[in-house]
Amino acid sequence: MSELFVGLMSGTSLDGVDAVLADFAPAIPRVLASTCLPYPAALRQSLLELNLAGHDELRRASELSVELARRYAEASLAVIAQAGLEPVAVRAIGCHGQTVRHQPAAGYSLQLNQPALIAELTGLAVVSDFRSRDIAAGGQGAPLVPAFHDQVLRSAGRHRIVLNVGGIANLSDLAPDRPTRGFDTGPGNMLLDAWAARHLGKTYDAGGAWAAQGAVLPKLLDRLLAHPFLALAAPKSCGREEFHLGWVEPMIPAGADPADVQATLLELTARTICDAIARECGKPDETWVCGGGVHNTRLMERLAALLPGTVGSTAELGLSPDDLEALAFAWLARQTLRGLPGNLPEASGARGPRVLGSITPA
Ligand SMILES: Nc1ncnc2c1ncn2[C@@H]1O[C@H](COP(=O)(O)OP(=O)(O)O)[C@@H](O)[C@H]1O
Ligand SMILES: [Mg+2]
Repeated sequence: MSELFVGLMSGTSLDGVDAVLADFAPAIPRVLASTCLPYPAALRQSLLELNLAGHDELRRASELSVELARRYAEASLAVIAQAGLEPVAVRAIGCHGQTVRHQPAAGYSLQLNQPALIAELTGLAVVSDFRSRDIAAGGQGAPLVPAFHDQVLRSAGRHRIVLNVGGIANLSDLAPDRPTRGFDTGPGNMLLDAWAARHLGKTYDAGGAWAAQGAVLPKLLDRLLAHPFLALAAPKSCGREEFHLGWVEPMIPAGADPADVQATLLELTARTICDAIARECGKPDETWVCGGGVHNTRLMERLAALLPGTVGSTAELGLSPDDLEALAFAWLARQTLRGLPGNLPEASGARGPRVLGSITPA
């Protein structure tokens, strides 16, 4: 039986689809091909709008699901072709979908997706809707990557953190003497991207260069740090519902320099991550960063300054920071097909381990 799986991740940053083709035959999975299919500006905007309540949501959501599924299929076929293979060599696709609502307390987390269309366009089985079962079992449905980190990134002697800085930041706490835990720390790139879009007309502040020109506004930072989510004990998860520009704007002092606001938002991301690590994880020996935030040089500098121990990219562990989340969803699809759990109750808060996902046959 083939151990080749495609993993597809499209996160809250709304930047595009990350795809990997991975071979799970070796103990440390081998990435055979990977790609990122960026969203065109119009799609990104439509998805952003759908994150808020609005007119005719069902039609807009349904139409966007179809458009997304075509991109998911295209990304899947692209990585398979890149590896010089045919789809028939692949066992299944694990597809996260695109989150537009995350309300675990109300019993749901909604990812736009059309797995039937992906199966039709690729000829492959698709595993999707990974979060619902965990939520049904009383969990947050997030984060789901810690179980994968637990499998492949544990160290026998070193206390490791794997920190994923996507739109939201989440981490896995891999301590040698206790079970792996995980949780969302709060904003990752999301607020930085939104402020950069408004003032630079760009989808992100490359390297954090603009933030680095500004000075942190201490009063604004203190007010942002008072967000109630940040004081909650783990396990916990969050989304655009909690952290968005509409929350920040009323607190910005009149006449503030936009670069200073960007510097403050970057410091908010760094501080919320480091405060959460200090409170929930203790003193790690190593923190390995993945997700798009690893390319934000200024953010990495701040993390290195605020955290104890080594801070670096997961690339140093042989796993590309840009592939890791998509790789986790390939692994999660494999768990589903093997009838094995994909969640970690210590990370999601679920009542117990559960086999996640829905299977759409090939
Ligand atoms: N060169 C860069 N400089 C600063 N930020 C970057 C850079 N490259 C990517 N990013 C950030 O990473 C984000 C995408 O990260 P990703 O891990 O895909 O997040 P998500 O899982 O939420 O989609 C972008 O929106 C941007 O904020
Ligand atoms: Mg992304």
